[in-house]
Amino acid sequence: MAKVAVLGYGTVGSGVVEVLDTNAQEVAKSAGEAVELKYILDLRDFPGDKHESQVVHDINIILEDPEIDVICETMGGIEPAFTFEKNALIKGKSVCTSNKELVAAHGPELVELAKQHNVSYLFEASVGGGIPVLRSINDSLKHEKIDAITGILNGTTNYILTKMDKEGVGFATVLKKAQDKGYAERNPEADVEGYDACRKIAILSSLMSGKHVNYEDIYTEGITKISIEDFSYARKMNMAIKLLGMCKKNQNGFFTMVAPFLIPLENPLANVNGVFNAIDIHGNMLGDVMFYGKGAGKNATASAVVADVIDITKHKGHHIEVNMKAENAQLSPKDNAVRSFFVRVPENKADEAKEIFGSKIEVIEGENVHGEFAFVTDMISEKDFEDRIKKLDSVKGYIRLY
Ligand code: HSE
Repeated sequence: MAKVAVLGYGTVGSGVVEVLDTNAQEVAKSAGEAVELKYILDLRDFPGDKHESQVVHDINIILEDPEIDVICETMGGIEPAFTFEKNALIKGKSVCTSNKELVAAHGPELVELAKQHNVSYLFEASVGGGIPVLRSINDSLKHEKIDAITGILNGTTNYILTKMDKEGVGFATVLKKAQDKGYAERNPEADVEGYDACRKIAILSSLMSGKHVNYEDIYTEGITKISIEDFSYARKMNMAIKLLGMCKKNQNGFFTMVAPFLIPLENPLANVNGVFNAIDIHGNMLGDVMFYGKGAGKNATASAVVADVIDITKHKGHHIEVNMKAENAQLSPKDNAVRSFFVRVPENKADEAKEIFGSKIEVIEGENVHGEFAFVTDMISEKDFEDRIKKLDSVKGYIRLY
């Protein structure tokens, strides 16, 4: 019998307990032995809860209990989660977590600590909620040379972009509706500014490179500047607008970025709508494989945490290898990346725009958009684009083409 402690009885933590209760037989069958919840750590009490008697307020009760094999950290945030996880690993307990902030910031050193103590550190639920993407990278795709990962990694922003596109409603209105329905946080900054997607692509990039990709080094743009006019042009171009997290291998290392992109409709990522996430992985032998599913939500995320508990239980006494060393990965600068850009300027700036961006631009007419001039640039580098766009004042917006 494997004994588990859950740290944090919030949305994900209570979901983990629910999965362990509801699917006890399936979990036991898969793990090869019964998996039993022994403790829940939380500051609060839960009078009347089925697991009321298992709630403790002192982490040391869990850390000092030799019966505890696995700790599920579902508290979120850096501290005290980081200290709790480190101490658990040092005490010889395996840890699994949904905590993307912590994994993005300290994942590689926690993996190394787990290795030193012959236990495991897994974090399937930190990227793509219930989608088994990290385990696939770590297992089924281990023999591949992965050269690109591109994903829609944030459900909230994908929901907002989908609503703006399908219902023709502006960003602020859709955000308000999403907040009322509970799809967006009261403080939506982490989602709409791309910070959440940035943490997730940092984790994926670290697994892809086998080294630490620091999320602070990833160029990140959110969706707050996207307008309904942009969708009008996108439709004309047979494209969708999606917030993408990407990591591509090139001669200079790994190029990573989070930003809204115009994607041709024939690309499967263009058809991922609502709160769903999708991650496309390109391997040198495999080609493209795409993972699709619920990237958030209590049960989906909890299911991924329990998948880690099972893996750890099956490998009791062994460290599960995770390809993530603590040394920093070599990132290639954004400046050299080459692509086309879609740009909108006021109508009276058309001549200036043509002069600055040259004759190879393609002019785009939006449906029911008046008083502006919109075009797609030739393939140019990010640096070149940045230098040219600076020369144009009153730019209404621009979006990269995928
Ligand atoms: N806010 C996140 C999202 C939750 O919208 O995808 C899951 O990480």
